[in-house]
Amino acid sequence: MTKPRVLVTSDLPGDAVAVLSRSADVDLHAGVEPLPAAELEERSKACDGIVCLLGDQISDEFLTACKNLQIVANVAVGFDNVDVGAATRHAVLVTNTPGVLDETTADLAFGLLLSSARRIAEADRFIRAEGWRRWQPELMLGTDVHGKTLGLIGYGRIGKAMARRALGFGMTVLYARKVPPAEGGRRDGPGPHHVSLEELLSGSDFVSIHCPLNKETRRLVGERELSMLKPGSILINTSRGAVVDQPALVSALADGRVGAAGLDVFEDEPNVPPELLSMENVVLTPHIGSASIETRSAMARLAVDGLLTAFSGIKPPNAVNPEVWDKFLERTCGRFANRRS
Ligand code: DGY
Repeated sequence: MTKPRVLVTSDLPGDAVAVLSRSADVDLHAGVEPLPAAELEERSKACDGIVCLLGDQISDEFLTACKNLQIVANVAVGFDNVDVGAATRHAVLVTNTPGVLDETTADLAFGLLLSSARRIAEADRFIRAEGWRRWQPELMLGTDVHGKTLGLIGYGRIGKAMARRALGFGMTVLYARKVPPAEGGRRDGPGPHHVSLEELLSGSDFVSIHCPLNKETRRLVGERELSMLKPGSILINTSRGAVVDQPALVSALADGRVGAAGLDVFEDEPNVPPELLSMENVVLTPHIGSASIETRSAMARLAVDGLLTAFSGIKPPNAVNPEVWDKFLERTCGRFANRRS
């Protein structure tokens, strides 16, 4: 029985690459630089599967060129970098990494919230710049977190994990999402309470984004939405940069309509709008929402396990387009079955 050939577009933490290497011929692209698109395509042409990152663009053209490719295992829960419609047309199975990163991502989102509210990153820079002279009653005044209202845009697993943290900090929680909840809308107690996006924007002190990026959510938070925020409110984004209209956010931060922001994601990563770099009221992190050893190792294993499960002839639970399964089986024709060890 032949082994599948699999391109892995980055080093991965934990044992994922070692596990994959036992059952597949692995072509590993290591190092910090991304694979240039042309090389990604060239190397993928020779592969049956690819374990890729959210920065790798898996487009219709790419899939058309890589006729041999049968599975795309994205090491991320978000899969906006993959044209899933095209993958389905090409009978390519796509998998993601749901469920293993929710708490870790919510930890970072809440960390950004605390850091933005209490100016932690700015205070750290202040000390390092040797600006501290004495304890002063008005030094580095931030805003309280407890007793405030947090609005969550998107209320899936990560949004819910964020809500639990907020309730523990004595906040009131509002959320808006595409599918309204079955239960009715009583609004007593700290929540979480379902509200419209407009109510959420005008009623929250902090707004945190937890929706996936897709056609409906691209630039969901634009100039109009930013103008509906309470003056001085704080925006947190750990989902995808393109959910927010970045230039509009830069202007709103510059003129103080938005008081501060904690941003882990950007529209054109790794490029960050230069204006943000000089704003003291913005906390910036390089898309590290899920970046704990445990979670990134679990994500890598989930991606690799899903790929090997599929090649062993069993539909993986983390398939994004499971409807393609029968065609996937026809294409692989059991060539790689029983390769797991
Ligand atoms: C994802 O999984 O989509 C994150 O953005 C990276 O953890």
